[in-house]
This record gives sequence, structure tokens and C-alpha cells, in this order.
Amino acid sequence: MSIPPVLAEAVSPRNRAAKSEKQQQIAPSNVLETIEQHVLLDGFKIVVDLDKSRGSYLHNAVDDGRLIDLYGFFGSMPVGFNHPHFDEPQVRRDLLRAAKVKIANSDIYSVGYSEFVATFERVVGLPPLERYLFIEGGALAVENCLKAAMDWKVRKNMAAGHGERGTQVLHFRHAFHGRSGYTMSLTNTDPRKTDLFAKFDWPRVSCPCIDLSLPESKREADVIEREEKAEREIRDFISQREIDICAIIIEPIQGEGGDNHFRGEWLQKLRQICDENDILLIFDEVQCGMGATGRNWCCEHFDVVPDLLAFGKKAQVCGVMAGPRIDEVKDNAFRLPSRLNSTWGHGALHTLFAHHRGGTSCGKRRKSRRIFFGSTARVAT
Ligand SMILES: Cc1ncc(COP(=O)(O)O)c(C=O)c1O
Repeated sequence: MSIPPVLAEAVSPRNRAAKSEKQQQIAPSNVLETIEQHVLLDGFKIVVDLDKSRGSYLHNAVDDGRLIDLYGFFGSMPVGFNHPHFDEPQVRRDLLRAAKVKIANSDIYSVGYSEFVATFERVVGLPPLERYLFIEGGALAVENCLKAAMDWKVRKNMAAGHGERGTQVLHFRHAFHGRSGYTMSLTNTDPRKTDLFAKFDWPRVSCPCIDLSLPESKREADVIEREEKAEREIRDFISQREIDICAIIIEPIQGEGGDNHFRGEWLQKLRQICDENDILLIFDEVQCGMGATGRNWCCEHFDVVPDLLAFGKKAQVCGVMAGPRIDEVKDNAFRLPSRLNSTWGHGALHTLFAHHRGGTSCGKRRKSRRIFFGSTARVAT
């Protein structure tokens, strides 16, 4: 079949060749100024050489120097640079195929996608959170948790004759959940990230994290006192706003807010409060999940399972895992079409995940953890 002329004529081979030659001419020393002509340049002033970078070493193309990568792209690197696994011909073929066309995974199904879903469940599945939604971006993963929780609570309220209420999300001081529309009402770290944008007046309570600056002998009493205070604040909000609160969201370890750790007892307390008050519990594990703490999910250390868990970063795809409480509402957002969706759902990089075919969960088989969670496992162990 010949290509319609209108497509064939759009860019002549000559122009294309000239353009690609020009693109190749950008020397590492000119990279920053080229980008800066059109894009705000507020990142690191280095130029990564993706061919020469190896393992935990990032190669800076500007000075030909090697840096130990303690940054890992905002904590999103699943393995070190250039793992030999990616040299295998079959892996290369699959990655190229996935990169060529960015298909709408939520609308057109493929073998690659089904392998990814099956692998995800086998490697990092967290029963009973069996419903999945995949999306591009951690903030959108959180945002879809919020939408699912709102939908769940409002439908319950309507069924009980209370009208269309139930969209407020209780959250914590120093939380970071992203910079999208809804998540900006939760994020409260650096005001530059949220100031002047429209936000909701959702309940915010103090953050009873362990104060590691205290001597060990004083830490527990201190944190228990602050947990009790935060619990009072939560219960006050619940008694004031009642059925308007649909969810409590927390990062099991706060990341951007200051590497703030909680006691398992606190997360279990939140579980109890949510169960008592018909509220969903959301864990944002975009940063702390996916093997970063030595287990697949941070909450596995504490024996608490949320109703909705948001993930991203090291997974290379972002999304939500939802548990059985969501099915208390028959027409919930994970069952009705068109409630939670986006064009790509998630990008081609799910293939990275699907390549972890041979392993099991990261806690069970050290070998597989080394392959898939290489960089984080080194930090965590
Ligand atoms: C805990 C947490 N939630 C959500 C996000 C937002 O993820 P993204 O930047 O992919 O939108 C981040 C990003 O740092 C995060 O640390």
C-alpha cells in the first residue's frame, strides 16, 4: 500500500537529513544553553551521558567526570544505569517495539500490557488490593485515589439520602502528594509549589512523626503524646465535618516533607479510625514504595493495608491499587467505565516491568531484587 501523498510530502528526506545533522551537532557544552532558550533551567547543571553512566555512577558529559548518584532522578530509578539485562537482544527488541508507538493502553489492549499486569500482580501485588489503575505521573495516581474515594463516599451519602456530599480529604502537615489540581490542596511543604493556585479547604492535622533528634529513651513517649494530639485533631474534624470526609491520606514515610517516619501503631490507628467512620484510608507510596524500604511496599513493615495505595516513580509507571472496601459501592469508579481514565493510561515503560519475568516479590528472592530493585536495595540494606 502506498503512503498518501499528503503524508509523504510533509517533510522531504533532504530536510529531515539536514535537521537530524543539526541536532547531532549539539555538543555537551552547549546543551544547557540550548535548553535554556525555551525552557526554565532550574535543574542540576550537568549533562548526563546515558551511554557511559554505569550502575550507581552518573557520567557527566560536560567534564567527563563520574558522580555517585545518590539522587536517582527524584528517587525514581529502579535499577542502576545500563544494567546488562538491557543488552539482551530480546529485551532490546521489546523495548524498541514499545517505544515506537505510544498506544492508548486503556483502550487498545496488547500482549505487552497483559504481561505487565500479570507481572505486576506476581512481583509486587498486595492482596487484597486487587483492582488496578495505571496512569502517567505520581500526582495523577494520588489524584485518582482521591477521585475514587470521593465517588465512593458521595454515592454512599446519596444512597442514604444525604445528598451529594463527601469530597473532603483529611491529610497531614508537611505532606507532599504532588502538584496537580486536587493534590495541591494536600501538599504543604514548600509554599512556592502551591501558593496562588486554587485550593480546597480540606482538614489538615499535625504530623506525629518520630523525632529522631531526641535521645532514644525519650522518643517513644514524645511520639505517643503527639500521636494522641493528632488523633484528637482528626476526631474533632470528623465530628465537625462528619460525612463530608471521604478519605485520610498519608505517606507511610514522608519524603519531601523531611524524611519523616511514623510508628506502625500510628498507621494502625488511622486504619481503625477509617473503619469506624466509613472513611477510606489512602497510602501514598509514590516515593517510599516499590522496594525502597526493603519490602515491596512500606506498609508491609507495619501490618496495615490501606483501601487505596498510590505508587509511581521506581515502578516506571504510576497508578492505584484498590481493595475490597471500594466494592461496598457497586458502581464504584473502578467498575463503571469512564470515571477514571486518560489517553495513555501509562506509557511504554511498563515493558521494563514486564521484563522482570523470572523473579518473585522483592522480599522473597534476593536475586530478583538485585535485578529489579538494584539501586534502592543497596540503599535500604
Ligand atoms: C509521596 C509523593 N507523592 C506524589 C508525588 C508526585 O509524583 P510525580 O512527580 O510523579 O507527579 C511525589 C513526587 O515526588 C511524592 O514524593
